[in-house]
Amino acid sequence: MASRAVIKTSMTDRDRMEKIVSLAKRRGFIFPGSELYGGLAGTWDYGPLGTELKTIVRNEWRRRFVLGRTDMVQIESAILMNARVWKASGHLESFTDPMVDCRQCKARFRADKIDLAAACPQCGARDFTGARPFNMMFKTFIGPVEDSAAQIYLRPETAQGMFTNFKAVLDTMRPKLPFGIAQIGKAFRNEITPGNFIFRSREFEQMEIEYFIRPADWEAQFEAWLKEMRGWIASLGLDAARVHEREVAAEDLAHYSKRTVDIDYDFPFGREELYGIAYRTDFDLGQHAQESGADLGYFDEAAKERFVPHVIEPTFGLDRTVLALLLEHYQEEGAKDGTRVVLKFPPRIAPVKVAVFPLLANKPQLVERARGIFERLQGWRRAMGEGLVAWDDRGNIGKRYFSQDEIGTPWCVTVDFQTLEDGTVTVRDRDSAEQERVAEPDLVALFEERLKA
Ligand code: GAP
Repeated sequence: MASRAVIKTSMTDRDRMEKIVSLAKRRGFIFPGSELYGGLAGTWDYGPLGTELKTIVRNEWRRRFVLGRTDMVQIESAILMNARVWKASGHLESFTDPMVDCRQCKARFRADKIDLAAACPQCGARDFTGARPFNMMFKTFIGPVEDSAAQIYLRPETAQGMFTNFKAVLDTMRPKLPFGIAQIGKAFRNEITPGNFIFRSREFEQMEIEYFIRPADWEAQFEAWLKEMRGWIASLGLDAARVHEREVAAEDLAHYSKRTVDIDYDFPFGREELYGIAYRTDFDLGQHAQESGADLGYFDEAAKERFVPHVIEPTFGLDRTVLALLLEHYQEEGAKDGTRVVLKFPPRIAPVKVAVFPLLANKPQLVERARGIFERLQGWRRAMGEGLVAWDDRGNIGKRYFSQDEIGTPWCVTVDFQTLEDGTVTVRDRDSAEQERVAEPDLVALFEERLKA
């Protein structure tokens, strides 16, 4: 079939964001948290497709940064940690954002995110309090007694788990410098103003690496990891023109960092941080050694010297990755048969890899044959450990294609009357909308080939 003329429709940034939020909800990617009870600000629930998308991104990250290397191990530390961790790390003292209140309407804002000389964005009054630091760590209590001795915090970054387990990893796995400890997991921040969908939420997921190095190597390692991050971003299909590296000014550096480069993305609401990379020196290991009294040094056999390793930290927000993927790959195309919405995910990233249709739902022979193909393809994805296979026998084929385009399914397989005669099916490509006939036994090999591309 000839490919059709495609006219991309124009969209404002605001439209784009609204459309993504609506599609994400309508098609089972992301739902507002606790919606049944009126919601809970700054929380989001991932539906079946969002969960699959996150699983795929996590797996890709793990394949690239853990399984694909010989210098990396992965851990999973507890979200609840001894409160002394946060004293040592400096978070108790420094993990704050400046907060102001509007005296009139009582709305709260981050002082660094609004113009304090202007009117309140909520009520228009010009009556702000002075800015004061607000610690963003969520507090809770461990055990039944709610006193200060029992007060603990939900971790605001996964990173500290890598530092507090540094010695345990060293003693058990005996890695040689340079090596990294990776972790994927939830982090919690009581953001003053969560917003922009999943961009700034109060519960989110990080994929972090603490890469331990000799101090003299820090500049070369920083550059090497920045390059690794660029490679990762390219693998997501994010347009390089929308990605910007920003050297963080000395006065804006986090308390642990000597150098930070933020990797920003042009979101519809502005150019904002997607990822970051920091040179954390020996700050964290040094602080934990002091607070705990443990020796967190490393003995270099070759040089016969003992020292505290320094750290390069590449950090990746998983939810911001999902948001960038949705925004980047969302397209509307005008076609003769109406506007089609397409999520042009790279096939490796698409949550649903293939959809299978019987041409007609009321022809048992077609349904049975299609069901067999569907189950075989499901078996293939099960062996891969990720990526769904969809079944659809509702409406007409055109509607089914549109429905799969909207969630980014790269290929649709249709079983028709010719299938019953010669064992071939049609495979329709999401991006070109072209169809080809493929022998049923060749399907998996064809998709595997295309997934590699
Ligand atoms: N361990 C270093 C660290 O936590 P960060 O820049 O505060 O550094 C790392 O956070 C990444 O976590 C960010 O680049 C971003 O992708 C993600 N992130 C931070 N706060 C977030 C929030 N409130 N909601 C969603 N993602 C967030």
